[in-house]
Amino acid sequence: MVPVQTAEPEQVPELVERFEAVIAAEQRIEPRDWMPDAYRATLVRQIAQHAHSEIIGMQPEGNWLTRAPSLRRKAILLAKAQDEAGHGLYLYAAAETLGVDRSELTEKLISGRQKYSSIFNYPTLNFADVGVIGWLVDGAAICNQVPLCRCSYGPYARAMVRVCKEESFHQRQGYELLMTLMHGTEAQRAMVQDAVDRWWWPSLMMFGPPDGDSPNTAQSMAWRIKRHTNDELRQRFVDMTVPQAEHLGVTLPDPELRWNEERGSWDFGEPDWSELMRVIKGDGPCNTQRIEVRRAAHEDGAWVREAAAAYARKEKERHG
Ligand SMILES: [Fe+2]
Ligand SMILES: [Fe+2]
Repeated sequence: MVPVQTAEPEQVPELVERFEAVIAAEQRIEPRDWMPDAYRATLVRQIAQHAHSEIIGMQPEGNWLTRAPSLRRKAILLAKAQDEAGHGLYLYAAAETLGVDRSELTEKLISGRQKYSSIFNYPTLNFADVGVIGWLVDGAAICNQVPLCRCSYGPYARAMVRVCKEESFHQRQGYELLMTLMHGTEAQRAMVQDAVDRWWWPSLMMFGPPDGDSPNTAQSMAWRIKRHTNDELRQRFVDMTVPQAEHLGVTLPDPELRWNEERGSWDFGEPDWSELMRVIKGDGPCNTQRIEVRRAAHEDGAWVREAAAAYARKEKERHG
């Protein structure tokens, strides 16, 4: 564990200067470097929330593992869910380099003191949801995460490089699944459209509230944790996704969607921000269920943690 450094900035101006110089030079802050307490706290909150999202995010799709329509689809979905578990582990490890403990973060998740992405509080009602999650949810995650590969905090940035490679596989498997359904029967095409209608707006909400309501963005950008505002990333996602929807043959459920020649971008409607706030506060369709499942998994796994700790103790006694 890296000890948390508590030096006060006013006592150590050279440390503050060095920190700021590293950020300005586009170099990385590493675990043993001095960093302002607020920078550390922001990263812990963001990385923990990201790790929790990867772990909770396995639940909506896990719902279809036992009912995948073919062995091939099951193998792909299983591989994706396992990738998400891996992402959670890299991210918890990255958070631990900031002086927090994974068990403490898990406690905060299951007691509701730390959040995860609001998108995972929506249910997966048909198998096309698996494809739409890959296409839209992993697609939005890619937009959010590619710039994080250049985040000023080294362990987070490095974890993101591998995560992003795997996310692009997730997006492609989702798109390929949808393409297959769109070439199928009328009922299969209707399933895809229904899933798109339900997931489109929650996917746009994944980028967070509009810039005017995102008070921490400016500081995160100054620290080069964040590289783009919520609205910039949302626009990028819409611009990337509209041609894919056309190619797929689905309609995005937004009557205000139209090409803006002047901006060279798609104009789009306003998501229902009150819905986002409601889901974040715990009142989404599946919030209670997601946390209950996570809590039960954590409790069921207690014996594994105890056995691993006992083994580590014995090994230490044996080898000194
Ligand atoms: Fe992931
Ligand atoms: Fe993913």
